[in-house]
Amino acid sequence: MAALVYLLALSQAAWAWEAPTYPGFKLIWQDNFAGAAGAMPSSENWDIVTDISVNNELQKYTTSNRNLQMSGGQTLQIVPWRENGIWTSGRLESKYTVTPEAGCLTIAEAQIRFGSNDGGSKQGMWPAFWMLGDSIRSGTGWPECGEIDILETVNGELEGFGTLHCDVFPGGVCNEPNGRGHTVSFPDQEWHTWRVTWDLQDADWRGQSIAWFRDGEQFHEVTGADIGVEGVWSSVAHSPMFFILNMAVGGNLPGDPNDSTKDGYGSMMEVGYVAHYTQ
Ligand SMILES: *[C@@H]1O[C@H](CO)[C@@H](O)[C@H](O)[C@H]1NC(C)=O
Repeated sequence: MAALVYLLALSQAAWAWEAPTYPGFKLIWQDNFAGAAGAMPSSENWDIVTDISVNNELQKYTTSNRNLQMSGGQTLQIVPWRENGIWTSGRLESKYTVTPEAGCLTIAEAQIRFGSNDGGSKQGMWPAFWMLGDSIRSGTGWPECGEIDILETVNGELEGFGTLHCDVFPGGVCNEPNGRGHTVSFPDQEWHTWRVTWDLQDADWRGQSIAWFRDGEQFHEVTGADIGVEGVWSSVAHSPMFFILNMAVGGNLPGDPNDSTKDGYGSMMEVGYVAHYTQ
């Protein structure tokens, strides 16, 4: 195992990077997961969340560096393992919050790849990069707090979901539990960039928008006019939101793992950076 980690670190040193610069934008915050192989992610930036049970998921989230670790090549690895029939995995929630700035474009993005196991051996895997309204931390319920799923994908399929959740459950403006979503294909499990932008340049909230991008190509958009209720729009476009990175196993969206499902690095989610930019 030590040799494997060492080789992984060596092979990834070539991939060490910072969040990119974008002309006209300032990088406000990033975690580029610099750290020694096997180190835990920064506790200044992230809470490791274990006490959560939602969506009929099977995994038990842990604080172990088997499930959550720096690769040593400036990436974070969230690795699902199965031991004695029990699945373990990891979930990080940022202490940092993004509040989209009035009059501006704001970007939240991450660069992500997946372990190289083929789709047929990832039944039940449900990695995600998403955001929740910070108001949930002070007692606001879901989905009133607002949720933006920047990328979810299930069962090793090369299809990403971007979804907005809001308002009330069931039904409401976001048609919960479905939300307002769209899918986009991606070519392979290698590095891709997943982004949302908030465009608050229009002083009229109805003309503002949230858009989803894969590798710079837009695949989904929701406008204030689509939402139609100013308070609901505010919950997802004018309010602080925190980042979540997790690898769920089983549950409502992917269904449960089967006999072909493999654990370990081949089924992981790996993150190069998470970043927040504004104009
Ligand atoms: C498990 O599910 C995958 C689809 O996600 C399928 O390709 C594979 O054949 C299944 N294996 C078994 C043993 O059912």
